[in-house]
Amino acid sequence: MKKNQLLYLSQADVAKAGLTMAEIIDAMEIMFRAKGEGRTEMPPKPGIHPEGDNFIHAMPAYIPDLKSAGIKWVSGFPENPAKGQPYISGLLIFNDVATGLPLAVMDCVWITAKRTGAASAISARHLARPESSVLGILGCGVQGRSHVEAMQVLFPLKKIVAYDLNENARKDFAADIRRNFDGEVVPVKTPREAVSGCDIVVTAGPMSKKPHATIQPGWLDEGAFASLVDYDAYWQPAAMHAADKFCTDDKNQFQTVRQSGYFPDIPEIHADLGELATGRKPGRETPQERTMTANLGLALNDMAVAPLLYQKAKEKGIGTWLDL
Ligand SMILES: NC(=O)c1ccc[n+]([C@@H]2O[C@H](COP(=O)([O-])OP(=O)(O)OC[C@H]3O[C@@H](n4cnc5c(N)ncnc54)[C@H](O)[C@@H]3O)[C@@H](O)[C@H]2O)c1
Repeated sequence: MKKNQLLYLSQADVAKAGLTMAEIIDAMEIMFRAKGEGRTEMPPKPGIHPEGDNFIHAMPAYIPDLKSAGIKWVSGFPENPAKGQPYISGLLIFNDVATGLPLAVMDCVWITAKRTGAASAISARHLARPESSVLGILGCGVQGRSHVEAMQVLFPLKKIVAYDLNENARKDFAADIRRNFDGEVVPVKTPREAVSGCDIVVTAGPMSKKPHATIQPGWLDEGAFASLVDYDAYWQPAAMHAADKFCTDDKNQFQTVRQSGYFPDIPEIHADLGELATGRKPGRETPQERTMTANLGLALNDMAVAPLLYQKAKEKGIGTWLDL
């Protein structure tokens, strides 16, 4: 019998595969429609919490429409950057839906960065004004960059306003973004400048069960959309209650996250992304509405991207084949 093998893709291999943000968004839109029509499987993610605020989560999912099955095993250790180690690390196993055999094991850091920006952009497709051209970013790290890339795919961006607590981070971010963006990039010194006057606002600073809640009611303009990537860390409860529509990516997972202490005071959830993608719940209905999403990050997102990476890597001869 022929030996079964799997393809191992390191962090460098994954980045080299050349998967574009537009391809990721397309695959995730198919997945969110399937999710909204009840054709996906995603049990709640179990986790372990070794010492302090650390987590390691198991995130399994199955998407029949994309012939994708597998699991991400991802850790977040907040003290790591101080030790010269990354906050997020982990591996994803991609399985054959016909046999269950593992087809690939891949580093999951790149996928986690890209799919989170893509999910916000898909939410924005339903909730932001289509002509949105000014993007405000608070938190100029990995997610800040991924969100610029994803929003550029779907919106005619002309200006990016960037705030970070760390002055060097916002300067580096502005320099990086200018390399691939023709419009204006404006690093700002106060968080309000990256909220008021923006059509789309992304908060991507650190998460905390004790939110700093900097953003006050009245800062987000009429007609604007906000993506709360760092959960409720940045927003005063009254600022979230000012939204006409408050959404998420998965209502069940949202309840679980609330039980663990996040989002103690939020408006009623209007819809999740499956309901928006299928049209079962309306997205934006008027140019004046203020809309928000707090996407939690789903195993389904990762498993929408994994088969594309596997295919690209195979086509380009990237990665290392290992015997099972
Ligand atoms: N919802 C999801 O699906 C999902 C997925 C991945 C990451 N996240 C979250 O996104 C956030 C950003 O992750 P990342 O990987 O980009 O982290 P990162 O460390 O790369 O970037 C965070 C940036 O925020 C800055 N910062 C710190 N405090 C700030 C403040 N009060 N205001 C503005 N900026 C501040 C830091 O200087 C840093 O530049 C984290 O909270 C992470 O947990 C969410």
